[in-house]
Formats: sequence, structure tokens, C-alpha cells
Amino acid sequence: MTNMQSFPHEMLREIYEQPAALLRTLAMYLDGDHLREDVADRLAGWANPAGEVLIAASGSSRHAGLAAEILLEDLCGLAVDVEYASEYSCRGGQEDKGIRHPSLLVLSQSGETSDTLAALREANRRGQHSLAITNAKASTMARRADVSMPLGAGVEKAVPATKSFTCQLAVLYLLSLYEAQRMGRMESAELAANIARLQAVPGSIEAQLDGWRIQMAALAHKYNSASTFLFLGRGIHYAIVREGALKLKEASYVHAEGYPVGELKHGPNALVSDTVPLVVIATVDRALKASVLRYKKTLELLRDMKTQGAKVIAIANTGDTQVAGLVADFVAVQPINEYLLPIAEVVPLQLFAYFMALEHGVNVDRPRNLSKAVVETPKGDE
Ligand code: AGP
Repeated sequence: MTNMQSFPHEMLREIYEQPAALLRTLAMYLDGDHLREDVADRLAGWANPAGEVLIAASGSSRHAGLAAEILLEDLCGLAVDVEYASEYSCRGGQEDKGIRHPSLLVLSQSGETSDTLAALREANRRGQHSLAITNAKASTMARRADVSMPLGAGVEKAVPATKSFTCQLAVLYLLSLYEAQRMGRMESAELAANIARLQAVPGSIEAQLDGWRIQMAALAHKYNSASTFLFLGRGIHYAIVREGALKLKEASYVHAEGYPVGELKHGPNALVSDTVPLVVIATVDRALKASVLRYKKTLELLRDMKTQGAKVIAIANTGDTQVAGLVADFVAVQPINEYLLPIAEVVPLQLFAYFMALEHGVNVDRPRNLSKAVVETPKGDE
């Protein structure tokens, strides 16, 4: 009974709260087995007629945006770009050039991050349609965007985002279902199947949490002397390796970077050694041709890494003996749909960061130099 456990840190508590947080979030957007009509009405007209969307966000929220780019492009046929909010808000140079501006999607746990707010302010000034997905429904972003889709994660106290991230992924998946339905890109049977798959995710995570906790504590202990980690993933899983690397950095002060699998040999491979292990996401949805292709290419990389003598921790489907035979350590994730896998596979990475923090004696809920929301001192223009 995980909900009866006591937790030494907020971060661990919040990791464990994810199944409940996801269920709360789904209840806000689903009416039984259907998408809520009032939400569909609110979303109508958000995406511009050309179907162009720009996502602006920072940190973990931007990583959720990288996943959203793939969801919205693959499932809805929208054309999506993802920007660092801090860059987008300072771009300038686009005035009076007849540029057609996309709809803006801002993602933010706090809804108050100054760079993301600046991006929203700029979009509002240009008359772009805007949508805010935040974990604070009364936040400045939620109030200033044309449409708000709040999360039901509940208050998140630890600086490293965990449950707000997985709830962002769930709402982004729902957004892609709403958009696919509105655009007539998903038949009702497929929509119903996707909703059922999404509804099964919280239970699947709940069932795996205790096992992941034990395994990731052991792996953190085993790898506690590594000075750098390289995280690798393809497709939508690239977003998750970026997030896994950020989580490890901010929670444990251990250096980590996330790369697409295919980029390893274009430079970073020079770093791979006994003290620089790889964390590779090698999950697969065998019902999806593109996912199987990505998986096969990842297997090729794992074979090469075995020959090279690299130490690899793989996150892969439960029972995948092919991956297990190629790597030093194997973390199993129950197979689910490709576009939902990120919600589950990030959880062992959150736990790895948490236990690495303990190994390194870091105050994981309050890492140095970081704050929960990066806001500016008010200057009277807000
Ligand atoms: C996440 O673990 C970090 N604390 C950080 O990257 C955070 O996601 C970023 O500062 C953006 O915050 P926001 O989601 O509240 O906008």
C-alpha cells in the first residue's frame, strides 16, 4: 500500500503521488470514457487555421514541450516548433515582416516563470492565440492566456519537478486527442482506444513503483562514482532523456546530458568510458512500425556499445531479452502505447536522480542555486 508509506523527502513523496495526481488530472478532462465537451468548446479556435503552434517553456516544462511536438505532429498533423522561452521572448526582429504568427502554447508548472510569461506577453501583444498549461489555475499565465488547461498534480514542494511533469505529459496527450478529434484525424474507435490506454497508465505506474524504487536505489549506489552520464533516446523518448539528465544534474549535482541516440557517434562518444556510463531508453511499441524501426536502430547502438565496452543502463520493455543481453543493467517498464511510454519511463529516471542525490549527500528538495519558480523582481510592467 504505497499511500500508507512515510517518505523522508518531498521529492520521493511526490514521485509516489504520481498515480493519484494523474488520475485527478484525467478526471478534469474526461467524462467517463469521453473527452469533455466543455473543454473541446474552450479549445475550439485555439490553433491557428494553418495549424502552426509554437511551444515556449523552460527547464522540465520545455522537455514536456519536446514530447508535445511529437504528439501534436504525429497525432494531429499540426506543425510545431519548441523554443526556450528565454530565447523566444528576446528574439525581436520579426516586426513588420508579414510573418504569420503561430498559436502559442506555454507550459509551466508554476505559471509564473518570468521568461515564459514574457513569451506569452509578446504573443498577446501580437494577437496570437494562446493556451497555457500550468499547475496553478489562478497563476498569471493561466489568467492571461486565451485558454487554460490546468493540471491536477496538486502542490509540488520539491524543487525537482516530478508529478507536475508527468501530469503535463498527460494533459498534452489529452490536448492531442482533443485536436485530433476536432480536425477529424482520429476515428471514434481509435479515440476510445487511446483514452482507455491513457486511463490505464496511473495503475501501471502504481504497480511498478516499489520495484523501481528498490532497483534505482541499488543502481545509484553502484554508479555513485560516475562523474558524467550520457542519456540517449529516440523520437518522443528524446524528451525523456533530456528530462532524466536535467533531473540528475539538479538533484545530485552529477553532470549529465541528454542526446538523441543517433548523435552519440557525432562527438559525445569520445566521453564514454568506465566513469561515463550511458542511460539508454530502448522501449518499443511493437504495434507501431516507426517505433519498431527506432528500436532496431537503438539495438544496433547497444551492440556497438557492448563491443566498445561501455557501461549501459537500459530502460526497456519488461521481458526484452534482446536488450537485456546487451547491457550491464536492465530496468523494465511494462509495454504500453508509444505516445504514453514517456509518462511511465521517466519515473525510474526520477528515482535514479533522487537516490543519486542521497548518495551524494544533497538536500534533494532544495538543491543549491535553484528555486521552485524563476521569477523576476516586479518592475511595474506586469
Ligand atoms: C524542474 O525540475 C526544474 N526545477 C526547472 O527546470 C523548472 O522546470 C523550470 O524552472 C520551469 O519552471 P516552470 O515549469 O514553473 O515554468
